[in-house]
Amino acid sequence: MSRIRSPKFQAKVMSAADAASFIENGDNVGVAGFTGAGYPKVLPGALADRINDAKAKGEEFRIGLFTGASTAPELDGVLGETGAISYRTPYQSEPAMRNAINAGITDYVDPHLSHTSAQVRQGFLGPMGAAIVEVTAITEDGELIPSSSVGANNVYIDCAEKVIIEVNSWQSEDLEGMHDIYYGTQLPPNNVPIPILAPGDRIGQPHFRVDPDKVVAVVETDAADRNTPFKPLDEDSKAIAGYFIDFLKNEVKQGRIPKSLLPLQSGVGNIANAVLSGLLESDLENLTSYTEVIQDGMVDLIDSGKLKVASATAFSLSPEYAVKMNENAAHYRKSIVLRPQEISNNPEPIRRLGVISCNGLIEADMFGNVNSTHIMGSKMMNGIGGSGDFTRNSYISCFVTPSVAKGGDISCIVPMVSHHDHTEHDVMVIVTEQGIADLRRLSPRKRARAIIEKCAHPDYQPMLLDYLERAEKTTSLHTPQDMTEALSWHARFLETGSMKV
Ligand code: COA
Repeated sequence: MSRIRSPKFQAKVMSAADAASFIENGDNVGVAGFTGAGYPKVLPGALADRINDAKAKGEEFRIGLFTGASTAPELDGVLGETGAISYRTPYQSEPAMRNAINAGITDYVDPHLSHTSAQVRQGFLGPMGAAIVEVTAITEDGELIPSSSVGANNVYIDCAEKVIIEVNSWQSEDLEGMHDIYYGTQLPPNNVPIPILAPGDRIGQPHFRVDPDKVVAVVETDAADRNTPFKPLDEDSKAIAGYFIDFLKNEVKQGRIPKSLLPLQSGVGNIANAVLSGLLESDLENLTSYTEVIQDGMVDLIDSGKLKVASATAFSLSPEYAVKMNENAAHYRKSIVLRPQEISNNPEPIRRLGVISCNGLIEADMFGNVNSTHIMGSKMMNGIGGSGDFTRNSYISCFVTPSVAKGGDISCIVPMVSHHDHTEHDVMVIVTEQGIADLRRLSPRKRARAIIEKCAHPDYQPMLLDYLERAEKTTSLHTPQDMTEALSWHARFLETGSMKV
């Protein structure tokens, strides 16, 4: 049976090249896609061709690109390579787009993921010319069955003047029923509480609604999601997972959280995935998750019966696990809910549910300030994503990282972070392969000693302690920093290729 069950939409089927002709120079385009899942596979390539043709003729053609979060080579990759993306928001991680951003070709604005939808809806970011969304199928009634991510699609579909739909028959039809699309969000002052009281609560409907008159084109494809495989677990990531899980167990022992813990959030990246693998080997059970993405480790936890329910906005699976999800979607939809990112990342349910957050970082300073986004203060890596949504609002906020990067030439614990994403006010626990620093109740000087002692690599421990002691002498103030030296480690790395003296 055709995936396009509505005759009204059947009549709009066309080639990707014809569909791309609806996008005009200067448009803001809201495109589906979240961590390599659920992004349109053929439209962006056709749009890149249209842009390159226009450029070859000497015509101006630049667009603003909005997505859910990071996408894949077929979207951020091909469009980043055109050099014609004037504006990009929110999170991204494709090398071509990152290069365009760091070269100043693309203006990148990096809001918290929970803010993007509201800012689009309220018109803060300008009008939305078009939306391009991938769906699994179109129902007889003209509603859209979402695919492997929800992201901000609900808002892009609602706000765009034109909608282009890519129907992807690679996505399992059994995904129908996994999604929970909430249409209760109102603009202030009329907004209302989000009625989520447990991670698995369903408060919306399974499909996106769309005004059929806005749909200008429907394109068909059967191309697979292209997610990046996770790095194999190494000794360091196993050690990090071990410290984090021991910490959680001790919280249970102290009576601060229940035996089944509180809903877990696990960030993007290899280390966060390693923590999930650690949970699999632990004796913890009846777990729940209120998070942003479902990684391989979370699927394993569901399979083991240890994780009862997971709420997220997208999958972030390796290619192998994406196939597994597709083949068994009917089974997994009993324990997985995929929501719009304005709900999965919304501070209100995160705070109410008492989420325990666990995210990766680029560097932390000895006072517990965290940089998740910038290399050496200037070069954009990916973006803040949902790390701030969860860190700022969770019951216990944790960060996990190896203590060093680039073969030991960079210490991930530094005197002062070269860019601030999460402040000491929000960061409660930092874990490296060296140990875990519980910063709760600690004043800045005590935080510094805990982080240096527990988290820093032995190569950098004496350097950090020496810096702290000297800073304490030169300033006997609340947070001892030496303004002449605080960023000298970064300067040394840029000059010599190593933070070591
Ligand atoms: N200085 C320079 N480079 C550093 C670094 C530092 N202090 N720390 C890490 N890196 C480099 C690593 O060497 C690696 O580079 P490579 O890709 O060339 O090998 C890269 O950054 C990724 O590091 P890795 O240790 O593999 O971590 P990760 O995959 O766990 O990713 C973040 C870490 C911070 C980049 C990632 O978690 C991120 O983008 N976070 C922000 C968004 C977020 O947290 N979202 C979750 C919300 S749900």
